[in-house]
Amino acid sequence: MITLTNGYIKLDTPRTTWLLKEKGGILYNLYYGNRLGHSDSYELLEGRLDAAGGKMMLSFVGAGDFRTPSVLIRNTDGTYVNKFAFAGAEVGPARLPVGVPSAKGGAETVALRYVDEASQVTLVQYLTLYADSDVVTSYVEVTAPAAGKITVESCASLTVDMDGCGYDLYTYTGSWARERYESVHRLTQGVYVNDAKTGSSSPFRNPLLFACRDFGDGGCYAFNLMWSGNHKELAEGFAYGDTRVTVGLSDFAFSYPLCDGETFTTPVATVVRAADRDLASAEMRAFVARHVIPARWQDTPRPIVFNNWEGTYFGFTEEKLLALADRAKELGLELFVLDDGWFGKRNSDRLGLGDWFLNQEKLPMGLDGLSERIHSMGLKFGLWFEPEMVNEDSDLFRAHPEYAMRVPGKEPIRMRHQLMLDMANPAVRSYLRERISYFIEHAKLDYIKWDFNRMMTDIYSPAVEDMGTYVYRYVQGLYELIGQLTEDYPQVLFESCASGGARYDLGLLCYMPQVWCSDNTDARERLYIQEGTLRGYHQSTLSAHVSACPNHQTGNSTSIESRFNVALVGNMGYELDLCALTDEEMEAVKAQVAFYKTYRSTLQYGTLTTCGSIYDGQRGYCYTLVSPDKREAVAVCVWHDTLAVEGIAPPSYRLGGLDPDLTYRITAREEQGKTTELSVCARGDLLCSQGLALGKYLSEADRTKNSGSIRTRAFVIQAL
Ligand code: DGJ
Repeated sequence: MITLTNGYIKLDTPRTTWLLKEKGGILYNLYYGNRLGHSDSYELLEGRLDAAGGKMMLSFVGAGDFRTPSVLIRNTDGTYVNKFAFAGAEVGPARLPVGVPSAKGGAETVALRYVDEASQVTLVQYLTLYADSDVVTSYVEVTAPAAGKITVESCASLTVDMDGCGYDLYTYTGSWARERYESVHRLTQGVYVNDAKTGSSSPFRNPLLFACRDFGDGGCYAFNLMWSGNHKELAEGFAYGDTRVTVGLSDFAFSYPLCDGETFTTPVATVVRAADRDLASAEMRAFVARHVIPARWQDTPRPIVFNNWEGTYFGFTEEKLLALADRAKELGLELFVLDDGWFGKRNSDRLGLGDWFLNQEKLPMGLDGLSERIHSMGLKFGLWFEPEMVNEDSDLFRAHPEYAMRVPGKEPIRMRHQLMLDMANPAVRSYLRERISYFIEHAKLDYIKWDFNRMMTDIYSPAVEDMGTYVYRYVQGLYELIGQLTEDYPQVLFESCASGGARYDLGLLCYMPQVWCSDNTDARERLYIQEGTLRGYHQSTLSAHVSACPNHQTGNSTSIESRFNVALVGNMGYELDLCALTDEEMEAVKAQVAFYKTYRSTLQYGTLTTCGSIYDGQRGYCYTLVSPDKREAVAVCVWHDTLAVEGIAPPSYRLGGLDPDLTYRITAREEQGKTTELSVCARGDLLCSQGLALGKYLSEADRTKNSGSIRTRAFVIQAL
């Protein structure tokens, strides 16, 4: 609820209050923390109210604030100084931004208006609340004077000034096959920047950021940005003892001119304040499930995928695909996905991208024929595309070299032998829309994997006047195309992918409800990647596949049961040569698929709690998924096998999210060749207390067959 009383603007979410007050033309953040009741004595919260060190909602050059400003504008007269005076707040129904993705189902929005009288530039920050969530979303609109040109040099979507310093900043960083590894940095004084300059949200630094303290008033803030391009999350510990976080677009290669009353809209940022990081994480995950992914996919059971990539790479034939589909059906899988290599002359990653026409040599029965065969087996059918890219060795490039993103007269940078297409060019978008629609209709696609396998370097478009706007316009072009396709074909399940998980962000999740989390399918490595990812993203967005052994990325070998136990959090599938499975593996997979189907709704949509951390050396790590009525749960416990070899005692595990007053039966999932079974009853309070001796039930890795491995076990917990 948002109330405006006695000069206070009070934003109440179910568990938090954010209290704002204007003084001397500046709007201050008096309080952001646990929910407060109504009070007549808020003045007790009025600490430092001056721009030099006070907690401001909007900071700008000319305020007398030497911290990083929220906004930097070059005015019509060439100056950078603005005097944005707070001009009032209006509360109304939830307001959606234009031209950028947004969360759905907001309850109320407060518009905070600022005017700079001298330059006639106006700025409005929109804060939206959601009835069932503590997450607040924020975006900003900057409007040029009725006559005159200004340039937006930077504009954050959100600025939060927090009490005190010494925050631990948790970031989710990495690179290809190592996305969203969690790292932590203590910020006292100075600036920490978490950003991306790759034209994507990037594998290097995801926009998700936590700022937490376990001293002072404690608490934890989580931030994210609903955007799939360059971004910047900046945390600044300042001289006077407070800390500022700004979240928004990166100012790298960004400079946005606005003429005569034109408006610029920032992407939407999200923030939540909670007592600790686990609670902030849980709020973020729930928000993604309820307010970010398209409504039609919320709570919809996601199919168990077979994807041929790691099974065949480019070397498939029609016969092989049909043999794989037969096996997939026999195992109980539900969706057959044909990955890269089905189009143009695409027999390697050097050529063919952009030619979205069937490769008849490889698939003589045509995609419609193949799709019909696969559908007639009772499987769904899906296809891989990498729409935003082109190889120079392609018919598309030969016919339309101007579609490729490169600066005239300059040698472009190639990554994976490919250039990017210019998504800001409407002709490129309509070519792609026509081609993708053609295959959706003719091959009756149920699913599309939308890949993106390089980063943006040669920023240029003949279709765009000012290159300072280009990266923003590229991303808008991408959203426009995806928005049209997902609206035209609401039945098609879209999964985004970017060399694995290089574009795992809230922006694309507004259109495509699931993401290929990483090209690293090694079970042990995936635990780190998935734990980091699940810090900010709901498990129904995360795709994880059981792949071959030894693993193609790391060479490690892990038992088929542990590979499954790691993949079962989220959208589980298989990505290996099913025809090469032994009889025992076939039996194991059949049982796994049956298990996943039985508990699918809890696995994909249950409430997730994690205990311990895979990053935490010798201790065990466990995640529990609990059904909404708390009567059913699945827990997976994990430990590094090498620790067992070193004689370290098996770890204890705490489950999470169960009803303390219910009595549950806990049963170890049956695994192949596993004799030590557990089936006991206990109350929820005991199961969620510290340290259950479950370590001894973990499956041992056979060391003659496995390397660098993990011990895991899944448990089913059912209320009696
Ligand atoms: C990168 C993806 O992450 C893989 O899963 C696969 O689709 C390849 N691209 C295909 O080129």
